Amino acid sequence: MALIFVTRQIPEVGIRWMREGGHEVVVSEKDGVLTKEELKEALGARPYDGMVSLLTDTIDASVLAAAPQLKIVANYAVGYNNIAVKELHDAGVVITNTPGVLTDTVAEFTVSLVLALTKRIPEGDRFTRAGKYVGWAPELLLGSDLAGKTLGIVGAGRIGSGVARRLANGFGMQIKYYDIARSEALEAEVQSEYYESLDELLRVADVVSLHVPLLPQTQHLINTERLALMKPSAYLINTSRGPVIDETALVTALQQGTIRGAALDVYENEPALASGLTALDNVIITPHTASASEETRGKMSELVGFNINEFFLGHIPPNIVVVA
Ligand code: DGY
Repeated sequence: MALIFVTRQIPEVGIRWMREGGHEVVVSEKDGVLTKEELKEALGARPYDGMVSLLTDTIDASVLAAAPQLKIVANYAVGYNNIAVKELHDAGVVITNTPGVLTDTVAEFTVSLVLALTKRIPEGDRFTRAGKYVGWAPELLLGSDLAGKTLGIVGAGRIGSGVARRLANGFGMQIKYYDIARSEALEAEVQSEYYESLDELLRVADVVSLHVPLLPQTQHLINTERLALMKPSAYLINTSRGPVIDETALVTALQQGTIRGAALDVYENEPALASGLTALDNVIITPHTASASEETRGKMSELVGFNINEFFLGHIPPNIVVVA
């Protein structure tokens, strides 16, 4: 039997699975993100063998120092930029994540943002609620069509490919993509053109959708210079990680009409928003909910429970994170 700490309540199923696996599971009682001090204090209170962390928890060597018995950290997210992977590996701690189960949900959400932004749906909703709708007008809230337009996918992994497939097959968009390597999987699924140069992709895309992990190389991948390469009629969508975009530069670009609009689910300094962002009408902002369906959050919970159970059975957990 292992002793497991969960840093915040997650859908019950994974907790139940761990308990059914014979483990004692302690869930933080705080309905919020634990500060680093609170996290260390909680981990130091008992000899925890395992931990379920969230993307809002920073897990590094200083946290490990408070939990010397810790053997596994199961992150309740596919992204794991909140974890100092090398520091944990050096300390012999196994890390797992939750890939695959949220692909369709995040792809659906991303497509929803593309539609909502290009069709100006939140703007129309605000306009109508404000009592400004006084009758049909030929040029009221004109948006953009997608059919025949170019979708630029940045990062052709599972989610990027899912977005490409939906917007190509469902809406007739032309797919062009940038990645560090060509994706045979994407090219087999939809007609698509590989761009070795992100700059070139940004010049031609009508909608740019970001699907890269947060790494030192992807921090501020979209900055002032790159925003200036985009068409003034283009839209930028981000459901990956906030720091991939220089958010202050984006606010300026949106204010100045460098690009037409943006839809963001993630932010550079979450939950804070860059100054000026909320005042813009040509931006949609959602609270990091791209994977937030009942089904998917439940499956993520199952996966952390399964990874923990497999590990303590002496098996290799299915979703081990390796050092890049
Ligand atoms: C993830 O799993 O990385 C997502 O951002 C959670 O919504």
